[in-house]
Amino acid sequence: MTQAAPMLTQKIFGALTDGQLHSGEALAEATGVTRSAVWKAISQLRGMGLLIEAQTNRGYRLGASCEALNVSAIRGDLPKEISDLVQLEVVWEIGSTNARLLESQPPTPGEFAVLLAENQTGGRGRRGRRWQAALGGSLCLSIATNFEPLPHDLPALSLVVGTCVREALLSCGVRDISLKWPNDVVILSASAQLVKLGGILAELRAEAVGPALVVVGIGLNLRLGEDKKKLIADSGTLAGDLESLGLDAGKRNAVAAAIIGRVIAGLKRFAVEGFAPFIEDWRTADVLCDQPIRVLDGSSERQGIARGIDAQGALQLEHATGHRSSILAGEISVRT
Ligand code: BTN
Repeated sequence: MTQAAPMLTQKIFGALTDGQLHSGEALAEATGVTRSAVWKAISQLRGMGLLIEAQTNRGYRLGASCEALNVSAIRGDLPKEISDLVQLEVVWEIGSTNARLLESQPPTPGEFAVLLAENQTGGRGRRGRRWQAALGGSLCLSIATNFEPLPHDLPALSLVVGTCVREALLSCGVRDISLKWPNDVVILSASAQLVKLGGILAELRAEAVGPALVVVGIGLNLRLGEDKKKLIADSGTLAGDLESLGLDAGKRNAVAAAIIGRVIAGLKRFAVEGFAPFIEDWRTADVLCDQPIRVLDGSSERQGIARGIDAQGALQLEHATGHRSSILAGEISVRT
């Protein structure tokens, strides 16, 4: 099937976000295309993860309420002292918000560039993986800052962001969520499985001299349909969504503002005080603590009991001998 032009999918997405029923004819008239082009765009939007109901002879409607991302709405929900420091942009489609900010002119030190995308065609996850998100059912955003000087606790950056994201989500009514070292937002299911709700990808562009551009990417599953969950499961990750934990997933602008506000406040504090003020919050949220784990790093595999983190954010692995080692990188799984 030929793909509908991005502008058309964007327009139809925008029209459907009012939550009303729209006939194919009305959508065709409003967008200046044929009904068959509308039909193609609807299939494409569904393929991107948007939940659309079709009612025979009546038209299309969103399966659940969903706001389109909007700069003024997000800015309006940010505290003024944060809003004043932020350059904010929403795009319909992009390869990766992280990649775009890493290529861009760095913000002035002390200021922040924030980019949100409705759809990423090449969303990046940790360790070279692809990040899958559902159109209208997720948040994909990146925050760039220019640290001068670089905080000495820089390796703990994504842990700091994790604690801020968690705090923001709790403030939006999410019942309980945890963090999995180093940067997954998770919940431990009733069957003791770790379900991933979001992830953080911190990337750095250091110049030979001068300040370093740091980009923090945050991907959150607000509402995932079964197709997306299956697609993510096929890549080896058990995914869930924040709506099932009490989040009003339709209110995407308020959730985005809560995340951006808390993360920027956290980054400002981190730049001055380092990781120390965030350690307790991390420990409260640490889902791995005292669990038997496996650490995979390249071809090496180690096993032991997770014993929290040290002052720099390194995971503490206790071996059968009682000896502990610090883990700085790796893929962690819980041994069952
Ligand atoms: C992970 O693997 O858990 C990290 C996922 C990070 C995904 C986000 S979505 C917004 C930003 N842009 C990207 O390309 N990736 C991050």
